[in-house]
Amino acid sequence: MTVAKTSRHHNRDSELAILHERTQALNLYEFWSANNETEHEATNNLQKFTKAVPHIWKYADVFPCLEKAGELIDMYDSERRSLIMCNPALEGQIATTTTMFAAYRINNPNEIAPAHRHSPNAIRFGLTGSTNFTGVEGEDITFGFGDLVLTPHDTWHNHGNEGEGGAVNLSVLDMPLVNTLNATYFEHDYFEEDEKGEKILKDVQEARFPNDYSQRVYGNGGLLPRSESHHRGTGDASPMYVYRWEPTRQALENLRDRDGSLYDGVLVEYVDPTTGQAPYSTMTFFAQMLRPGEATLASKQNASLIYTVIEGSGHSIIGGRRFDWNPFDTFCVPGGEWVEHANGSPSNDAILFVSSDEPALKALRFYMRHGRTPEGDLAVIS
Ligand SMILES: [Fe+2]
Repeated sequence: MTVAKTSRHHNRDSELAILHERTQALNLYEFWSANNETEHEATNNLQKFTKAVPHIWKYADVFPCLEKAGELIDMYDSERRSLIMCNPALEGQIATTTTMFAAYRINNPNEIAPAHRHSPNAIRFGLTGSTNFTGVEGEDITFGFGDLVLTPHDTWHNHGNEGEGGAVNLSVLDMPLVNTLNATYFEHDYFEEDEKGEKILKDVQEARFPNDYSQRVYGNGGLLPRSESHHRGTGDASPMYVYRWEPTRQALENLRDRDGSLYDGVLVEYVDPTTGQAPYSTMTFFAQMLRPGEATLASKQNASLIYTVIEGSGHSIIGGRRFDWNPFDTFCVPGGEWVEHANGSPSNDAILFVSSDEPALKALRFYMRHGRTPEGDLAVIS
């Protein structure tokens, strides 16, 4: 029904301007349409927020900065040394997507950073070198290319390098999400008890588990030791702290001759071996293989994704823009963007390591994914 203009307040515009001044002074948002010619303007405005954009960080550009940081910053200057990939649309925020950040970390020979712990969940993924080190809750883990190491929320952890060569790894944290939920804490003073029971401040944790503990206990799919405690300090994150590359690569290889997914190619998820669910309540991780020449159909989901290229090269179309990628490049697909991937090589695989906030969306019952069928129709992907 059209409201007759004659029924309007005769000084409407000037009175609205006065009202606007009052509401601004009182920190009130005027939830109504300023222009009733635009359909649903009031509710559309409510859905405006700063969204991350698709972006790629080329490892060839980042590595010289990382190397220089390794020269200039030592563990006496700073207990941590990483370059965090910040989304260009999320100005002023330390975030790769609205929920996660990814970083490249360089570890100089024979350095170990002091232990700390915090509420955000984190992972490390080995890129170069074979002597990356993370001690987590008393399990000393030396790792190299393709190995995934968990440092779940509330677990004490040291990082470093146990060898003489350079070592670079990727970090991914859910910290932007945890900050939004007002749930971030950090603790820096790590204590151990001496033989008299006195608390001694330590930089580095004593090993309390064999250094192959995660493999020994959880490395055999389908067999779960009942004589071991699976509570390693957090209770609700995966107790398997390292997932080695060789069995992960083999798991992809075992699926090579299967059809795979039209939207993902061959995809395996890193799971908590005690539940079969994502290792964290906020993030999960995948190894993805695009076989030679394989191209996926387009899909979009409201989970945000961060991809790091492990092997091969190819391109992705994200939100209508093409991003070409090579080993160790990292690119993000913010939730809501259409994406499709292609391995351009007729002879080599392309392998991607994928970080996703899917578990957080699923826990909150918001998760949705859609894809284009080969005929171009829209379909829900379960
Ligand atoms: Fe940390």
